[in-house]
Amino acid sequence: MARILFVCLGNICRSPTAEAVFAAKAAAAGLDVAVDSAGTGTWHVGHPPDRRATAAAARRGYRMDHIRARQVGAGDFRDFDHVFAMDRSNLRDLERLRPASGGAKLGLFLSLAPDVGEDDVPDPYYGEDGGFDRVLDLLEAAGDALVEQLRRAG
Ligand code: 4NP
Repeated sequence: MARILFVCLGNICRSPTAEAVFAAKAAAAGLDVAVDSAGTGTWHVGHPPDRRATAAAARRGYRMDHIRARQVGAGDFRDFDHVFAMDRSNLRDLERLRPASGGAKLGLFLSLAPDVGEDDVPDPYYGEDGGFDRVLDLLEAAGDALVEQLRRAG
């Protein structure tokens, strides 16, 4: 079973959305995976996802109201096989946190979907509501790519 962790800054907008989207896609594909999300920051620990993110996800049929924010830790690199950062700033923070002794593969989630032409899932927190739909578009594309990658890996 592949164990996948998605990481952003607050764990209330992008990474819980990635968790919900990918969990749905993996289930639809019949893949046996464990999926979770976390944030590099502590501001929202214990909070449910941002209402705007939950509403945008619900319009596409994804539920995320069961998710509560937590902070990523060094132990996550042992508990997961893949750690996917939502943007390059998250990736730099994770590289500092990663224990020297290997563990999970670490990378940018959008590197799986080069066709979208972006490295970073833009942070929608301080932006307009439309930002949440753009986040979903990007996460669906990368989620499809990850399903394909895991399928091929068998
Ligand atoms: P996220 O968005 O990293 O996609 O969850 C953010 C949520 C909260 C904050 C920043 C980004 N914040 O600064 O509180």
